[in-house]
Amino acid sequence: MEVRTVATTPVEGQKPGTSGLRARTAVFMRPGYLENFVQSLFEAIGGVGGKTLTLGGDGRYFNERAIQTILKMAAANGAAGVLVGQGGILSTPAAAAVIRARRTDGGIILSASHNPGGADGDFGIKYNIPAGGPAPESVTEAIYARTKEISEYRIIDAPDVDLSALGETTLGAMRIEVIDPVAIYADLMASLFDFDAIRDLFGSGFTMRFDAMHAATGPYATRILVETLGAPPEAVMNGTPLPDFGGGHPDPNPTYAKPLVDMMMGPDAPDFGAASDGDGDRNMILGRGVYVTPSDSLAVLAANAHLAPGYANGLAGIARSMPTSRAADRVAGKLGIGCHETPTGWKFFGTLLDADLATLCGEESAGTGSSHVREKDGLWAVLLWLNILATRRVSVADIMQAHWAEYGRDYYSRHDYSDVDKDAAEALMAALRDRLADLPGTTVAGLTVTSADDFAYTDPVDGSTATRQGVRILFAEDARVVFRLSGTGTVGATLRVYLERYEPDPARFGEDPQQALADVIAAAEALADIRTRTGRDGPDVIT
Ligand code: G6P
Ligand code: ZN
Repeated sequence: MEVRTVATTPVEGQKPGTSGLRARTAVFMRPGYLENFVQSLFEAIGGVGGKTLTLGGDGRYFNERAIQTILKMAAANGAAGVLVGQGGILSTPAAAAVIRARRTDGGIILSASHNPGGADGDFGIKYNIPAGGPAPESVTEAIYARTKEISEYRIIDAPDVDLSALGETTLGAMRIEVIDPVAIYADLMASLFDFDAIRDLFGSGFTMRFDAMHAATGPYATRILVETLGAPPEAVMNGTPLPDFGGGHPDPNPTYAKPLVDMMMGPDAPDFGAASDGDGDRNMILGRGVYVTPSDSLAVLAANAHLAPGYANGLAGIARSMPTSRAADRVAGKLGIGCHETPTGWKFFGTLLDADLATLCGEESAGTGSSHVREKDGLWAVLLWLNILATRRVSVADIMQAHWAEYGRDYYSRHDYSDVDKDAAEALMAALRDRLADLPGTTVAGLTVTSADDFAYTDPVDGSTATRQGVRILFAEDARVVFRLSGTGTVGATLRVYLERYEPDPARFGEDPQQALADVIAAAEALADIRTRTGRDGPDVIT
């Protein structure tokens, strides 16, 4: 088969963000856009000659076309083989599991995660390293550097590969193995959790709804929850993956998964509710009448993980992103294990997991995961919750009450101002940064600032550093506000305001978080002038 070398010129702005390169689907479909990035990626990782890669995506529009292109480019660049999910599908955690189980030389995942899909939506691509997790910044920077110099890419002229049938085939000299996207992942889950106990739980009449949001986790949830663990078929909602996610926004939060939240707050609520995002790495947890914040979920999972066989020997440590609440720190304190605070982005957990400094990791952005893969893992979190519920046999609400009684409650909420003017958002952040040194000691909306800084991080394992990771303001009233611009958007800017306050008084555990945080919300507004600068009356997403 003929290898074609195609002349090209750099495309501006191919800089990977928090989680890979994301852009409008239409941009990805422009001639050369995907090809430039893939060739740059191959070169930045030292070439793919003789290597084997894992490849799959979340099934969004353009997924299969992109996969065909990448296969032809991998063959032209001398790759020895590619393991590709049937139909081009692999959830992000499943791809990480395949990379690890089959020891491939890393993998390529096609997803824009929770961003909407479709011809008018977003597309994305990221490289995961042989340990399974997202490439560290040293690698993404090297890819970006290549995109700025690229002058040609290689591709073979060949018919498309049939990805519908399992089994082996070849493309030129390259071996292609079309794998069951679920099997390796499902086996891994069975090795971590007490499936018999969860089966008994369902057998006892326990009810749940898992909202796959028409995205990648549908087949995984159906195979594991329904076919293996005996949940009734209606336990999986929106389980058929669609290229545009049914027109929805596949982000499992109270705004975008509202139908599920409404059901869980209603009179006919099942015992347990959960949802996952486009590529299956995020999760939202609910009980009858309760929404569990991602920060609280991490803390509860950490406090109870020993109930699952995979974690029976305890945890080496916990890691959370800086904007995530301190609830997990309190659990780590009691367990006598370390709690690491990293910048936003799962890639920062990789070194800690590899060095066994952390077993569980979590982020306020609905990500929780563990050392089992190097990605956050939505269904894993659901199964760990189920394992805990199957062992303790109490409601989610009771678990939360007992947790807060033991540790106190970290009231928490995130306010998003999406797609605001980029210059205005950057000016807001710059104005805050300019005032950092003056803030300590001042009183804002009745709260006293004790410290103010721009979060910087030095990785304790490899010494790499990251700066300007979010402005954080601490108050004497045991409260905190963090301001940060999203790194996953594709147009404009999204301002995230992370709000939290610790409440030790059991008599005040039952408040509405927006009420409980009213002072902190007012302080955030006073500090950053959000309304005037963004031109918005309030946040469009509240988690
Ligand atoms: C992706 C990453 C997460 C990160 C999140 C933050 O989902 O995988 O690790 O927490 O993005 O997104 P943001 O839009 O706040 O940069
Ligand atoms: Zn995701």
